[in-house]
Amino acid sequence: MNKNSENISGWKKLMKSLTKAHDLGTEEDIMLDHDYDGIKELDNVLPPWWLAGFYITIAASIFYYIMIFGFGKYNQYDELAAEIETAKQEVEAYKAANPEKFDDSNIVAFTDEENLAKGAELFTTKTCTACHLSDLGGSIGPNLTDDKWILGGGVKNIYNTITNGGRPGKGMIAWESTISREERIQLASYIISMQGTQPATPKAAEGDITWPEE
Ligand code: HEC
Repeated sequence: MNKNSENISGWKKLMKSLTKAHDLGTEEDIMLDHDYDGIKELDNVLPPWWLAGFYITIAASIFYYIMIFGFGKYNQYDELAAEIETAKQEVEAYKAANPEKFDDSNIVAFTDEENLAKGAELFTTKTCTACHLSDLGGSIGPNLTDDKWILGGGVKNIYNTITNGGRPGKGMIAWESTISREERIQLASYIISMQGTQPATPKAAEGDITWPEE
């Protein structure tokens, strides 16, 4: 027997031990006695390599079970909470880095003629009238003269709605990129100054938030 054939038989032995395959030509011995339209089935044993993998998955599942339920480690709820915590920190960091976008503490409604006139002018030139009408009675968008608000009344909420838009798909876009901060405050102030006025054809009140509160 030369070196080569020794190798081949070694290889064969290994394959045999890994698969426990039945020797070719002796299938008769393990043939099951049913026959599906000519398709026959052999009663082979499961290959040991496959069984080993299967047992490893069982062992791994026990390991995970103990880790998760026994020691409470790798708990998905904790992982979620940790991820939310990280995300919150990122939001805070972003807010801190972009104060002009989020700091609304110094947003105060104008009450002087000049700024309100500017707000009224912007309400027309920036096409707000297309959806809210020139007397703010509302058409596509809600009536802005009543004390019911979908997104909240008061200068900060109204400023926020104009800045970031309404609910997705409703038609009220975010105006942050097209209208300056100063102008958005003027618009919000103008809307507030129109509170309680009587539009010609007021749209029925929408929203659950009452402002100003009685
Ligand atoms: C394309 C139509 C459209 C235009 C243009 C539009 N809006 Fe709106 N607006 C809406 C709709 C629709 C809503 C309701 C949003 C929602 O339900 O989330 C809304 C809501 C609002 C609200 C909140 C009302 C509430 O009840 O909370 C304010 C304030 C507002 N718009 C102001 C403006 C201003 C100022 C402009 C111009 C810069 C403007 N809108 C332009 C359609 C429009």
